[in-house]
Amino acid sequence: MCYHYVTMLFLPLTMVQRQFGELQIVAATLQRIDELRLTASVLPGGTEVPTGDAFAVDLRHVSFSYPEGSQVLDDISLHVASGKVLGLLGRTGSGKTTISRLLFRFYDPTSGEVYFDGVGLPTHVLRALRARWD
Ligand SMILES: Nc1ncnc2c1ncn2[C@@H]1O[C@H](COP(=O)(O)OP(=O)(O)O)[C@@H](O)[C@H]1O
Ligand SMILES: [Mg+2]
Repeated sequence: MCYHYVTMLFLPLTMVQRQFGELQIVAATLQRIDELRLTASVLPGGTEVPTGDAFAVDLRHVSFSYPEGSQVLDDISLHVASGKVLGLLGRTGSGKTTISRLLFRFYDPTSGEVYFDGVGLPTHVLRALRARWD
């Protein structure tokens, strides 16, 4: 009789134990998310927020190398008027994605500048800049 009750307790108790384990993992995950969220950008921030519907985009003599890599972009200049669409064609590894990263300011060019509406990217507030890309 007593043995029967003990075995009945066993399953719920192991379930509680497992849930505690999961709770610990969740707590650790939340802490890591918080750490990530509170990471300050190393890029110097700006003050100006662009107005208007769509950016005019300019790349002027943009060259770029990843910190631990060889040169990816070599003196790229282009102009996209406000409201226009530009398609980038190129082989895998030619730097298409890298250009888009510069537009979001995930990286700054090694040399040259990116402009939105004629205003250099470092002048824009980072958060406002990225919000505009929705
Ligand atoms: N995060 C990175 N760190 C170092 N090198 C990178 C990184 N991302 C891409 N690269 C290198 O930069 C070059 C261009 O890559 P990428 O912009 O992704 O080209 P595409 O989008 O045209 O395929 C490639 O040689 C790639 O290996
Ligand atoms: Mg790509």
